[in-house]
Amino acid sequence: MLKSDISADVLVIGGGISGILAARLLTDSGLKCVIAESGRICSGVTRNTTAKITVQHGLICSQIAEKYGDDYARMYLNANRLAAEHFEKLAEKIDCEYEKKDSYIYSTNDEKPLYREADVISRIGGEAEFVGNIPLPFYNVGAVCMKNQAQFEPMMFLNEISKGLEIYENTGIIEVEKNTARTVDGKIKAKKIVFAAHFPFINRHGSYFLKMYQSRSYVLALENANSFDGIFMDENKNGFSFRNYKNLLLIGGGAHKTGSPTRADALKDFAEKFYPEAKKVRLWAAQDCITPDGIPYIGNYSANTPDWYVITGFNKWGMTNSMAAAEIIRDKILGKENENADVFDPSRSIFQKQILINGINAVKNLVTPAVKRCPHMGCALKKNELENTWECPCHGSRFSENGELLDNPANCNLECKNKRR
Ligand code: FES
Repeated sequence: MLKSDISADVLVIGGGISGILAARLLTDSGLKCVIAESGRICSGVTRNTTAKITVQHGLICSQIAEKYGDDYARMYLNANRLAAEHFEKLAEKIDCEYEKKDSYIYSTNDEKPLYREADVISRIGGEAEFVGNIPLPFYNVGAVCMKNQAQFEPMMFLNEISKGLEIYENTGIIEVEKNTARTVDGKIKAKKIVFAAHFPFINRHGSYFLKMYQSRSYVLALENANSFDGIFMDENKNGFSFRNYKNLLLIGGGAHKTGSPTRADALKDFAEKFYPEAKKVRLWAAQDCITPDGIPYIGNYSANTPDWYVITGFNKWGMTNSMAAAEIIRDKILGKENENADVFDPSRSIFQKQILINGINAVKNLVTPAVKRCPHMGCALKKNELENTWECPCHGSRFSENGELLDNPANCNLECKNKRR
């Protein structure tokens, strides 16, 4: 915990995988870099990830190509491909259960989007093929396969990567003004500041509260179920993903907007239907920031804050995107060109229906009478009976039953007043 005033070349706010990787690359480039983490490092989304190191992120390449053109799809693919190679190189020296696996995006009803994705990936320099018969326990029309992707154990990996970094745990940032961040007991002055604490919490710049929402999804670990040789994901966002971890089958799915009724039962129902003999070992949830075009925000925080950078909006694909983000932010801070950075530019124009929906939902929740209100911007909180938490449907902050902050962008417990705006 930081107890005094310090200074650094770079302050990284957030000690999850993206903050640690960014700090590692910046420190290795010779900069004095410190991490401020409000809790313990890797205690948030990083701990609950299914840790797929794959460049296959749903049907993202064809979606980007259609919206922004092939050059931008190529940037996205190349940034993530370089990131995956970087993981592989580091994993050669780190015991982190790194294993090569083929990756599949399947569909249960329409092969056309799969063919389209495989075509776009081939056209922009990647390797993907349509395969017609994949071994899932239910009907499917096939999948796009990308070979030689990977899975690993991120906590073992990050334990090694974070060695020697200057990290202040239990050091929540209360306020940031230009080049100074204030904590409860001290100040950190830095030439550059990287916001890597999941959802950016400074509202007066960047408008992230309009440009993103948060989604919750679940992972169910089953013993005595199928073994899958590969990583399998449904192209439909309401579908399921599968991978093995040792003797366990991990089924992912049940995604819903944070603050909406939980869909965790979808996983249990699926398991009971297809693996009635299996034992449910554990069910846990992860929380992700979702952008309207499926592309993360990586780059300058806003046009008015030249020394601030942001890493957020991974849309559930946090492994390779976090490494890509660390490389892009390092290059930006060092003044080096990164040929893949433009596709992630946080100031890109994304006038989409989702932004309008986010705004209308926020206004509705602001005027809804409620027992408890969110300290971030005042929306009415909803009770999640399954997890015994209070959740904000506006931007996804979460609180324990006793009001303790679990997920940002709120920066304090329920009874406090927001001090960050
Ligand atoms: Fe923004 Fe609650 S998270 S108002």
